Amino acid sequence: MGTGLILGIETSCDETAAAVVERGRRTVSSVVASQIATHARYGGVVPELASREHLRAIVPVVRATIEQAGVGFKDLDAVAVTAGPGLAGALLVGITYAKALAYANRLPLIAVNHLEGHIHAVLLRERGEHDARPIEEPALALVVSGGHTHLYLAQPRDGLWSYALIGRTVDDAAGEAYDKVAKLLGLGYPGGPWIDALAQFGDASAVPFSFSQVKAKAHLRGKTPRTKGAETSPIGDLDSHFLFSFSGIKTAVLRHVDVHGLREEAERRADRLYPALANGEASVTDAAAKPAQTKDQALGLCTQGTLDLIASFQHAVVGDLMKKTFGAAEQLGASRILVTGGVAANRELRERFGDEAGKRGLEISFPTKALSTDNAAMIAAAAWPRFEANEFAPADLSGDPALKLA
Ligand code: KG4
Ligand code: ZN
Repeated sequence: MGTGLILGIETSCDETAAAVVERGRRTVSSVVASQIATHARYGGVVPELASREHLRAIVPVVRATIEQAGVGFKDLDAVAVTAGPGLAGALLVGITYAKALAYANRLPLIAVNHLEGHIHAVLLRERGEHDARPIEEPALALVVSGGHTHLYLAQPRDGLWSYALIGRTVDDAAGEAYDKVAKLLGLGYPGGPWIDALAQFGDASAVPFSFSQVKAKAHLRGKTPRTKGAETSPIGDLDSHFLFSFSGIKTAVLRHVDVHGLREEAERRADRLYPALANGEASVTDAAAKPAQTKDQALGLCTQGTLDLIASFQHAVVGDLMKKTFGAAEQLGASRILVTGGVAANRELRERFGDEAGKRGLEISFPTKALSTDNAAMIAAAAWPRFEANEFAPADLSGDPALKLA
């Protein structure tokens, strides 16, 4: 065995990312090229644009991470790549390039599930911090991002992790709700960081949003869930107490905006934050059209009523995530919880999950903020146990947009 260095490549959605990680526990380098500027004007990811941007970015991003790591390809032990779930064309760019790199440098190729990657963003941090005592207990993992809201029971067996699906969303992912509500309120894309920053200025008890119990059966009768990761897992066999639904709160926010006359304010805000784009005078490739505005400027454009709405929305979403996650931990007897994915970067979420875990005497871990959203260090970290177990990808590996974890 060599140096224990794995090059990870991640292109499943709208970030082109590459990283070098040592033995699944130390990030040597990590580079993320975001396509936010490209997709912002559309208020969401446009698949065709994503593939094109990945094609442009993949070579410089991999080169940059190798340079920053101060290594050569010959120093690597393996190349790891996200095989799914994600956008078909976007996955294809990363997989094709990873295959070529592995072949040219005679390195083994390791396929990683994106959701397992998010879980290993936490394990990477833990393995780094508890070098002498790698935590080997089962954990309840909440993966909460723009494409996914999934609860898994993660279990280590002989160094390899296996996963059982415990719960999931039947419609939108939590991050998707953040993004849609932010768009509705004339804020930037992606919406999570904007709502996170503005929520602290509002009264979270102003608007009493509530989540009703999700009825699993209704979603089984010929209805296909609509999220990006929707087909990645069945709903039928799950305990309905652990099902999430975030499309209702989006509609409730919309209704609140209309009833309280907040729509004009939202439109004015969008015009001020994205003047060139709103007027149709600029294209996304113009530097002038990029949203350079800051959250402070957005704050100045929000009435107290809007800030209260934002705070109430976030409070309700975090509350619902907590209720189901801690409920599942209790039912399954899990003594530790991992929370990961883009929404896990949220300040209120970290604080309230941390407090609740403390009260219940449970261990709780998050990734570093930088590794909460999509990155490649988590892919290289997830590949390490597979490398040790000689679990390599077949030469004809292809992307699977609906790849299942459990
Ligand atoms: O993990 P990620 O980068 O991509 C997916 O796998 O989907 O997650 C992106 C999502 C977006 O919906 C974004 O709005 C949300 O994570 N997000 C946040 C925060 N930062 C990113 N949501 C709430 N608070 C944040 N601070
Ligand atoms: Zn992700």
